[in-house]
Amino acid sequence: MKLTSSFASLIVCAVTLASAHDAHLEARRTSSLLISPPGLPKLPTASAATAAAATVGLNLTDIQGDIVTGMTKNRETFLFFGIADAPSFKSKLRSGVLPLITTAMQMTKNSTQPTTLVNVAFSHTGLGALNVSDTLGDGAFTGGQLADAGNLGDPGTSHWVSQFVGTNIHGVFLLASDTDANVASTVTAVTTALGDSITQIYTLQAAARPGAEQGHEHFGFLDGISNPAIQGFDDSPLPGQASVPPGEIIVGETGDPFISQRPPWAIGGSFLAFRQLEQLVPEFNKFLTDNPIRAPGFTDQQGSDLLGARMVGRWKSGAPVFLSPLADDPALGADPTRNNNFTYALNGSSTSSSTDQSRCPFSAHIRKTRPRADLGLPENTGRHILRGGIPYGPEVSDSEAASNTTSTERGLAFVSYQSSIGNGFQFLQRFWADNTGFVEQNTGFDPIIGANKGANRTVGGLDPTDPSRTITLITDFVVSRGGEYFFSPSLSALANTFTV
Ligand code: HEM
Repeated sequence: MKLTSSFASLIVCAVTLASAHDAHLEARRTSSLLISPPGLPKLPTASAATAAAATVGLNLTDIQGDIVTGMTKNRETFLFFGIADAPSFKSKLRSGVLPLITTAMQMTKNSTQPTTLVNVAFSHTGLGALNVSDTLGDGAFTGGQLADAGNLGDPGTSHWVSQFVGTNIHGVFLLASDTDANVASTVTAVTTALGDSITQIYTLQAAARPGAEQGHEHFGFLDGISNPAIQGFDDSPLPGQASVPPGEIIVGETGDPFISQRPPWAIGGSFLAFRQLEQLVPEFNKFLTDNPIRAPGFTDQQGSDLLGARMVGRWKSGAPVFLSPLADDPALGADPTRNNNFTYALNGSSTSSSTDQSRCPFSAHIRKTRPRADLGLPENTGRHILRGGIPYGPEVSDSEAASNTTSTERGLAFVSYQSSIGNGFQFLQRFWADNTGFVEQNTGFDPIIGANKGANRTVGGLDPTDPSRTITLITDFVVSRGGEYFFSPSLSALANTFTV
């Protein structure tokens, strides 16, 4: 009896000690820091991700978390910095910030997510500032985005944010959470920890759009639906979702075409292409209003909506025009098991028609950037990117809508991860979106992101009543404000290569 009661008091004591210890830990999250709009793929569960990772030997506790979270950030601040004092930066990063860096594995469960996701990535000049001299085997990264502006179709750099003109941005912190207050306090924690070892060069605050627009980009279309599933992280792709070898996104893993050129510490990292893409929303809407598709029985509004949907390849709900060619189908858009399940080919064929644009123009943004059966199935293009961007800037004001003119900047803080910028972001922009002969002759530009150095853009196939009609766009509805290319290293590289 005596023994039992002292055993019981031991347990009470242990429990008290445990809760005292827990009280010193960061409060556990009970809800995700990410948004989960209907229609977008969900992250795998922790146990599913662990099982998937074991099959290909992917170390999910060594890979930074933003790489796998897609377009589901709620509030995010991008803090672009220069390294003022490398030795001091290294030691402060190691002691003050490294413990905060969020991993892919942590993101798979609410209770392991931090209050604010913290990730960091470095530009090529940043690697130089830190004396990390290995060649990473990526020419676009080495050259930097400024040198790439012409290749991407930018009309010079006159529209670029001035801080992106130059090569003195050494790195970027990405800080994401579910409230502005959480992000702000973590920004303060990081900048305080680093003190004057960095200079803060430029900050961009971004946020998911409010209410029913959550998950939609500023033109109004649901975004992030068709991100690929990375084998070894998510082995249960949704119907129609691309399933890509880990090395298409993660450097040094199976399927990385440049695996032999990578230094060992680069394994588990990923190249991050950042672009600040301004969107001229009132001007885009005016263009749709002025140019409705004149289909039999259509009102002007229906014709304008159809034009917008054919420019994107999806309706605003996310429903693909290939599956719902004449009207939006919100139930389809919200159903992730159906909204990505198409190939542009009919009747299970492995190739699409080279002439039929009745269901979806060849020029549609999503067809240009992932042509599916247009390049033949099975789809192994090696040109998938993992998009992780988020809208920035306010909603359109009444006066902007009334004047059809943007007065306050808004757009997409575009982020893509890939194991090769030349195969990923740069290729998609340069050789697909900006290439008028892709995927068929007279396809014209991608009407959303295609760029012609500021000159007019011709776009084919938008009018289903006359697919041979070419529409000339005199306005770039998406304006490049520049950006930079970064490398997002593994946590072990941060600990062993970047901070010693
Ligand atoms: C402001 C600029 C942009 C806007 C408004 C925009 C909008 C959209 C929308 C609404 C979708 C459909 C949702 C989905 O399928 O996930 C989409 C898909 C996509 N976008 Fe963009 N996007 C922009 C920039 C870019 C850029 C710069 C690239 C790459 C160079 C890009 C590549 C893609 C890809 C690969 C897809 C998925 C296509 C598929 O798998 O079917 N986007 N975008």
